[in-house]
Amino acid sequence: MRTELALKKRFADDFKIGAAVNPLTIVSQQELLTHHFNSITAENEMKFISVHPQEEVYTFEAADELARFARSNGMAMRGHTLVWHNQTPDWLFEDRQGQPVDQAELLKRLRSHIQTVVGRYKQDIYAWDVVNEVIADEGGELLRPSRWLDIAGPDFIGKAFEYAHEADPEALLFYNDYNESDPLKRDKIYALVKSLRERGVPIHGIGLQAHWNLYDPVLDDIRAAIEKYASLGLQLQLTELDMSVFRFEDRREGLTVPEPGMLERQAERYEAVFKLLKEYRDVISSVTFWGAADDYTWLDGFPVPGRKNWPFLFDERHRPKPAFDRIQTLS
Ligand code: XIL
Repeated sequence: MRTELALKKRFADDFKIGAAVNPLTIVSQQELLTHHFNSITAENEMKFISVHPQEEVYTFEAADELARFARSNGMAMRGHTLVWHNQTPDWLFEDRQGQPVDQAELLKRLRSHIQTVVGRYKQDIYAWDVVNEVIADEGGELLRPSRWLDIAGPDFIGKAFEYAHEADPEALLFYNDYNESDPLKRDKIYALVKSLRERGVPIHGIGLQAHWNLYDPVLDDIRAAIEKYASLGLQLQLTELDMSVFRFEDRREGLTVPEPGMLERQAERYEAVFKLLKEYRDVISSVTFWGAADDYTWLDGFPVPGRKNWPFLFDERHRPKPAFDRIQTLS
């Protein structure tokens, strides 16, 4: 008989264990989710375009359903996300003639959106990804070009945190980004968050998306990122962990089962990563996977159409993979 512990029990003294979910997976993965996880994040259902597709129209059915799922199963919930350059409707940036609005109008709309959404989930959501992915990946620019930046200038970032704090003073507010362990981007994220802190902006944590793969980022870079972010005196959360079996540059097509050795390598990698995360349990308060089991991942077909991926601890039939076994036996 297998004697393994549920993940949430295994890491009960370390951090919460979360999964991104959607209205389909809370049904198809219900047993797995409620057994192993004690936190959820809505994969898409709380993004701007999902909840606020038109100025006068809010659509909360799917988001409410996920919040109910968390509540009825005693799970924590993270909110994702309030300000992003993707999955954000055009109307937000335009007047009725289709002309760009000015800074004051955009900030007014943002405040009203945040008041409504954060206010609605006050009882359910303990932590929000307030601002997502505003740092530029390449080059010397700090911020990524976006309509937010064009219209409002960099102020929209601090304002979003202020509005979220106003809407729910109890919520923990996070800045969230990917490539977070890359040294160049790490230093930019650090610089942004440091300047927010120095200006007294209410921010409580940094979310490391952790879209990783079998090879990258290397452990030393992950460690250095954790140390640097933690030096700001904030808490850290892994918000979107997956361990792709492909290097990011790998554009091979047509693999329908993992190659020999892939899942063993993944197991070693997960073991090394969780060992490291446990070292930092005092600063890392939650580890959320961007899904739960290999039957559904956003990485299927991304960035190579039709290509399957196997990034999680559970297989397509929700059985524990070698990676699950390896992190069970960590001391
Ligand atoms: C992804 C979802 O998983 C997909 O279903 C959707 O088509 C695109 O967005 N960074 C984020 C997440 O912050 O919101 C993204 O989620 C994955 C990358």
